[in-house]
Amino acid sequence: MSEPSVLVTRTLVEEAMRALDGHCEVDLYEGPPEAIPREYLLRRAAGKQGLLTILTEKVDAELLDAAGPELKIVANHAVGFDNIDVPECTKRGVLVTNTPDVLTEATADLAWTLILACVRRLGEGERLMRARTPWIWGPTMMMGHDLHGKTLGVVGCGRIGRAVVRRAHGFGMRVIYNDAIRLDADAESELGVEWREWGDLLGESDVVSVHAPLTPQTRHLINADALRAMKRSAVLVNTARGPMVDEQALADALRSGEIFAAGLDVYEREPQVTEALLDLDNVTLLPHLGSATIETRTAMGLLAVENLLAGLNGERPRTLLNP
Ligand code: DGY
Repeated sequence: MSEPSVLVTRTLVEEAMRALDGHCEVDLYEGPPEAIPREYLLRRAAGKQGLLTILTEKVDAELLDAAGPELKIVANHAVGFDNIDVPECTKRGVLVTNTPDVLTEATADLAWTLILACVRRLGEGERLMRARTPWIWGPTMMMGHDLHGKTLGVVGCGRIGRAVVRRAHGFGMRVIYNDAIRLDADAESELGVEWREWGDLLGESDVVSVHAPLTPQTRHLINADALRAMKRSAVLVNTARGPMVDEQALADALRSGEIFAAGLDVYEREPQVTEALLDLDNVTLLPHLGSATIETRTAMGLLAVENLLAGLNGERPRTLLNP
């Protein structure tokens, strides 16, 4: 019997690529830095039984039509799956999987990297040194803010949000959260968090860290009104999905001093960054590195491949998204 044929839209870590060997015929797109062009994606998906996608690939009715009736599974190499029309896949009997859990701790670490970079003006200090700017220690030089005794506001208290909360206690912070689904009282007290209405969370937090999924309801959740409701000393960090923050409104708020600083790992029109942000000193920008550790990317790649192969073999994948 011939091996099932699959399209892999970006080269995975070596271990994950090797895990595909001998199980399927792989059509690999090897063209970074650009994402696989849509035309190419539509063309190469034709007749495939499996697609191993990343967040840049929009999996919608058009792509499913192009792939055709042989398609069994779309294995997304990410925990987020806002790039996939899951109901449409379900309607057509196509399995969809993601890679939860394995990237929780790495992403929480990166959120904290940005929180610390923002409150202690790390980027600014680094740029000053590299520019060989003359400097001398001074009592008022480049002052940031303390974290201990302050309040962290977590937006979205799922797996990653909760991992961010656990780290906050080590920094001596009080934690409040807002989520469409409120945790039960036992879970709140075990985690050491208090629920707040949206407006209260914004007004009380010294650091607001975003960990919710991107949905029509969370698009531009952080808009001009939300930024105005935050403290002038507050920091905003987004390691979830870019379109949850209105980048132009954020640039305006940072420029006018409406908030103290921001740290972004994800962008509204990724990989583009709103030009106005690039000129500001009080924003720290990273190129979507949340899960970018060797250990985590290996685990993500292996889980995506495991899911793909299970779906091709007619088994239930470990992290299935279809209801
Ligand atoms: C995800 O998994 O959703 C990240 O954004 C990519 O690591």
